[in-house]
Amino acid sequence: MDTNKIILKWYDKEKRNLPWRESDKNIIDVYKVWISEIMLQQTTVSVVIPYFQRFILRFPDINILAKAKIEDVLTYWAGLGYYSRARNLHKCAKNIVENYNSIFPEKYETLINLPGIGDYTASAICAIAYNQHEVAVDVNVKRVISRINNKQNLSNIEIKKLAKKILSLERSGDFNEAIMDLGSKICKAKDPKCTICPLNKICRVFKYNKKALLNINGKNIFKKKIIKYGNCYVIGREKDNKLFFVRRPNRGLLGGMLSFPSSLWVEDKNNIPNDNILKNFILHANIKNCVHHTFSHFKLILNIYEINIDEEINIEGEWIKREDAIHQLPSLMKKVASII
Ligand code: ADE
Repeated sequence: MDTNKIILKWYDKEKRNLPWRESDKNIIDVYKVWISEIMLQQTTVSVVIPYFQRFILRFPDINILAKAKIEDVLTYWAGLGYYSRARNLHKCAKNIVENYNSIFPEKYETLINLPGIGDYTASAICAIAYNQHEVAVDVNVKRVISRINNKQNLSNIEIKKLAKKILSLERSGDFNEAIMDLGSKICKAKDPKCTICPLNKICRVFKYNKKALLNINGKNIFKKKIIKYGNCYVIGREKDNKLFFVRRPNRGLLGGMLSFPSSLWVEDKNNIPNDNILKNFILHANIKNCVHHTFSHFKLILNIYEINIDEEINIEGEWIKREDAIHQLPSLMKKVASII
């Protein structure tokens, strides 16, 4: 049997039921494919599922998304991380409504020029939504293709070329999702289930080079992350029981998200710069607690200052009730809110 037939036969039996795969009368919704593929970058399927479901309920189509306020979109993204994805998603929706009559383009060359759409997303949309002869190379696809060919350190272009040799012409979309599922359920990075793998008869690593099973795509998970330190100021006022929040600048980590004011985050814990405007208030405040948080590239330890004031603060921000702010906060700031 051809390799693609073996893969599709396995997929027809074992495919995961995922909300973005549900289709009405077998018509795949490109809008759902796009949202899910953006959410799934750098985020696992199990984390994405509830976010995807809430997002689709609130923004069921591209016109509703394009008309929404960015703050509302970011609220539905709060906790998923990599917030530039949400800002670009919103820009892209507006672009498609204004320039393409609200219809998602079908051509790879057009898609790749839209905000937030790179090679991976353009390929995924072409293949999964439009069944075009494309391969979206994510870590799972990279691992499966590298292993069955017994090759290491391949570039994404090389992976694509090798994958296209076995890609199904009739079911390109299913083929892409089948390899993603195979990589996640069977051909795992650390503990591959080779004995039950449908490709074990053709897999060259399984046949010739079992030692390489662990090396391909094996990120060094033990690499130590650097630690950064910062101060974070939970400022409350008694008269209306509200807390003070700022919007983080669009550029940089947690870009555009609602947050408690915080200092810069630095590696030298003895030289955390305090905010100039808040200096007078901080003088009388004590560090109440510490919050530890892990980002993809570093760990963060935040000293939490609790400050109660009844005067105005000379920085741009908003006074919001705790319960109204909480669902808009990124995970780090939710943690801060949970300890005060
Ligand atoms: N990871 C990225 N895209 C995916 C998809 N469409 N299905 C399952 N896992 C994925």
